[in-house]
Amino acid sequence: MDNQTSETSRLLIVDDQPHNLGILFDFLTQSGFKIFVALDGESAIKRAEVTKPDLIILDIMMPGIDGFEACKRLKENPSTQDIPIVFMTALSDTVDKVQGFNLGAVDYITKPIHQEEVLIRIQTHLRLHNLQNQLQKKTEELAHLNQNLEEIVQARTQQLIEQEKTALIGRLTQGIVHNLRNRIQLILSYKCLATGEMTGEDISQKMTLAYVDKMAEAAWDMSKILDNLMHKSIMDHSLELTPLNINEILNKELDFWQANLQFKHQVKKCYFWDDTIPSIPLVYTEISQIFDNLISNALDAMWGNPKQKLTIITRQDEENVYIDVQDTGCGIAPENLAKIFDPFYTTKPFKGEEKQENQPTGTGLGIYTCTQILKGFGGEIKVTSEINKGSIFTVRIPKKNSQRNES
Ligand SMILES: Nc1ncnc2c1ncn2[C@@H]1O[C@H](COP(=O)(O)OP(=O)(O)O)[C@@H](O)[C@H]1O
Ligand SMILES: [Mg+2]
Repeated sequence: MDNQTSETSRLLIVDDQPHNLGILFDFLTQSGFKIFVALDGESAIKRAEVTKPDLIILDIMMPGIDGFEACKRLKENPSTQDIPIVFMTALSDTVDKVQGFNLGAVDYITKPIHQEEVLIRIQTHLRLHNLQNQLQKKTEELAHLNQNLEEIVQARTQQLIEQEKTALIGRLTQGIVHNLRNRIQLILSYKCLATGEMTGEDISQKMTLAYVDKMAEAAWDMSKILDNLMHKSIMDHSLELTPLNINEILNKELDFWQANLQFKHQVKKCYFWDDTIPSIPLVYTEISQIFDNLISNALDAMWGNPKQKLTIITRQDEENVYIDVQDTGCGIAPENLAKIFDPFYTTKPFKGEEKQENQPTGTGLGIYTCTQILKGFGGEIKVTSEINKGSIFTVRIPKKNSQRNES
């Protein structure tokens, strides 16, 4: 490396004494360096700017600006500030060496020159400087890699959050399809009853009308389900802040959950709405996603549990609206309470993993997503839970001053 350093390195020597300059020039050229020279401080600065040497040997005692001043200016100039500077002094000079180091010099050599020593010092500083540059480059590369990695993780997390949303919609859709199919089946059955196909008897007009009423009722139900679906799909595509009524959104979401078999047949429902809660500017799809997540978690927690009760309460104080989603499910052990907010923490099997029939699957992104969304509104989720008794998830949404409202 030393050879290579000598061959390729370029040095600027600054000294007002031509004799000394000549000695240095000769032996350093012989040692393989490319040498530039300057006879005073001012021209040294100019030469350094133009030639960009790898190292500067700078005499301190010079007419005009002295070495210290030249060093100061070189260090102030962005295009020369990184070049290592070695000061040169005569043994008889009484200079303040500390001042030189404070100005950014890396070393001192003394005149008369001891050639071997000077060579070793120069090579050492060139090597040091080289290593420093490499280190700097590696640090920059690492920072860049780190940034890339962070971007990849963020993109992947976003992808998973989208997947979580799709999974929730899939779950709701299954229920909706089931509900629609049920009603179609109902209509077909009433049609058979109304026409007497089923019994082979003559049906009184009164009975026929009663069956037609039932058919109409089922058709209305279907129409309502489809209206809701349409509303949700339109609202889910809007990312605008709109004044929204929390109770209304909850009611709509719960309508959807009606189609879920567990929700419909096994869960006792208790809802308490504070009807005086004002509308708050929110993004529909985000808020509905939070409710969907909490409701689906509550159902999951109560899955296979004989005592299933879901209580949803909306309440408020001066500044905030609160939504409590309370279940009588498996609960969360105290040591796991903090973990449920971490992305990817799940106690459920992943999709495609081995599981019991109908056992709910998880991604571990539900609560994390909710927390991220709520951060945007200046809100939060709190949880209290008792193992085998159940949990209460409380969502707090500020009525005003949410970060988004202000912006
Ligand atoms: N209501 C609840 N009752 C009991 N445990 C819950 C409840 N909600 C969430 N958890 C726990 O928190 C974990 C993370 O929830 P979440 O972030 O929604 O991910 P996922 O539902 O995909 O597992 C769940 O796996 C579960 O262990
Ligand atoms: Mg979940």
